[in-house]
Amino acid sequence: MRRLLLATVLIAALAGCGQGETQAPSSSSTAPVAAQGARSPEEIQAALAALPGPYATANYEAGRRVFAQCRSCHTINAGGQHRVGPNLHGVFGREIGTAAGFNYSQAVQNADFAWDAAQLDHWLANPQTFLPGNRMAFAGVRDEEQRRDVIAYLMIETAPQ
Ligand code: HEC
Repeated sequence: MRRLLLATVLIAALAGCGQGETQAPSSSSTAPVAAQGARSPEEIQAALAALPGPYATANYEAGRRVFAQCRSCHTINAGGQHRVGPNLHGVFGREIGTAAGFNYSQAVQNADFAWDAAQLDHWLANPQTFLPGNRMAFAGVRDEEQRRDVIAYLMIETAPQ
């Protein structure tokens, strides 16, 4: 019920955004997505479809909701500030523990790999067993499908444009 209400509010907000433009948004079913950022629903669909393997069929909206668990500690925009955790912009392909200006734990500093979907999936399933001694105070995302969705969301939202 609350979710339905939220969707209604977002659609209403989106409708409000359209003022001053000559063309109305083309579709309403994915409208809440567009209210979140600069990308249109069509751009998000195209970005999703271009992702590798199972991520191409992930649920972007669900991934965005899972990321609500990370948001208090992580920003994802370019040049975003570090919070309790480092800014995650450009994290895919980046060596672990190398966001400039963030003070990582020794465990992370000692680790040696670049982030890809598989590594992130293991990290998020259980951060403590994946890399004992790290400082990410987070229980993890136990549900495999939720991890797929949040990883797809991150692949799109942390990608340098
Ligand atoms: C309570 C705060 C907190 C939450 C919640 C949290 N993180 Fe973190 N995260 C951290 C901290 C702190 C680190 C750095 C860990 C270290 O140095 O040991 C980190 C590190 C990371 C890294 C490694 C970054 C790098 O530069 O190598 C990734 C990726 C990451 N988090 C993703 C996530 C995702 C995705 C979520 C949500 C599903 C999440 N985190 C939830 C605090 C958090």
